[in-house]
Amino acid sequence: MCPLTSAGMRALHFSEYGPASVLKVAEMPEPHAGPGQLRVTVRASGVNPADTYVRAGRFQEWIPLRLPHVPGVDAAGVVDEVGEGVTTVRVGDEVFGITDYAQMGGANAEYAVLAAWAPKPAALNWEQAGGAAGNIETATRVLDRLDVQHGTVLLIEGAAGGVGTTAIQIAVARGAVVIGTASERNHEFIASLGAIPTTYGPGLAERVKALVPGGVHVVLDSAGSGSLPHLVGLVPSPERVVSIADANAATYGVHLSRGSGPGADAPSFEGIAAAVELAEQGRFTVPVAAVFSLDEAAAAHELSESRHARGKIVLKP
Ligand SMILES: NC(=O)c1ccc[n+]([C@@H]2O[C@H](COP(=O)([O-])OP(=O)(O)OC[C@H]3O[C@@H](n4cnc5c(N)ncnc54)[C@H](OP(=O)(O)O)[C@@H]3O)[C@@H](O)[C@H]2O)c1
Repeated sequence: MCPLTSAGMRALHFSEYGPASVLKVAEMPEPHAGPGQLRVTVRASGVNPADTYVRAGRFQEWIPLRLPHVPGVDAAGVVDEVGEGVTTVRVGDEVFGITDYAQMGGANAEYAVLAAWAPKPAALNWEQAGGAAGNIETATRVLDRLDVQHGTVLLIEGAAGGVGTTAIQIAVARGAVVIGTASERNHEFIASLGAIPTTYGPGLAERVKALVPGGVHVVLDSAGSGSLPHLVGLVPSPERVVSIADANAATYGVHLSRGSGPGADAPSFEGIAAAVELAEQGRFTVPVAAVFSLDEAAAAHELSESRHARGKIVLKP
């Protein structure tokens, strides 16, 4: 561990693209809140699959970074700096939120600057809140695009992960019927969140027909496992499917929704406050798959890369 000076902070970073072993913890310059932003002393932050893609250099073409780069897009903590024009929070408030999406990083550190946030609900502990905001924004963005509301029958491909578990709960709270695909070991888990579980892979159409004879209205593909040709067959037209994970989505007439980079959809930051309300009503939680220290971040990235985490992976500074 590095000694700290008043102008420095402990931060996870990488100075070259590569495998999880390029992640190091060192002293880095502190960031400061710009206009419309705030800074938190981080209590917990999230690991998203995108952090592993950024680290591996897969996003270099469309999100150019200046190295060294601090990964992480969501965090929870205590406000210690308030930027110009911010009137809704004060130093000492407990919040959770998202860093500037365009930078694709900054959260896995001792201090993080947030660009969108909401008060941390008491119903979520620090680990849960630290990994929540990015998935809430993504799930809200896609569920809005699919117009998921009371009575909608939604199928989520890849329902046991960070986005899937979030989308199940938000959709159920809207009054939708949610079918979630997951491996069998996760069926009870996603059922506990409100989904009707089934297995992904061959025979999906038959299994879905048996579960909802009236059919599925819309589909969220959060797996990106190449199943879009089958998912498109579940609905009347491909516009009723949105993928967040399949780079070949356009081939099947499916919209690929992204929160940043060229061609991104407008982010749905208002979903964060809406999820706070649900959490306070006991209708929204964040299943945490594992908590690691910053020093163990390589193991956290490797768990994310396994693509079988059950819920959210979180880092503690
Ligand atoms: N475009 C965007 O705005 C955006 C935002 C966030 C995330 N994403 C992308 O969305 C994807 C999901 O993100 P996440 O954070 O939810 O990931 P995650 O937490 O790593 O999700 C892993 C889940 O995927 C499931 N899974 C693995 N193989 C599967 C398959 N063949 N079919 C169906 N499900 C499968 C696993 O369930 P089992 O263990 O039960 O198999 C596991 O629970 C990632 O590719 C991520 O990069 C995109």
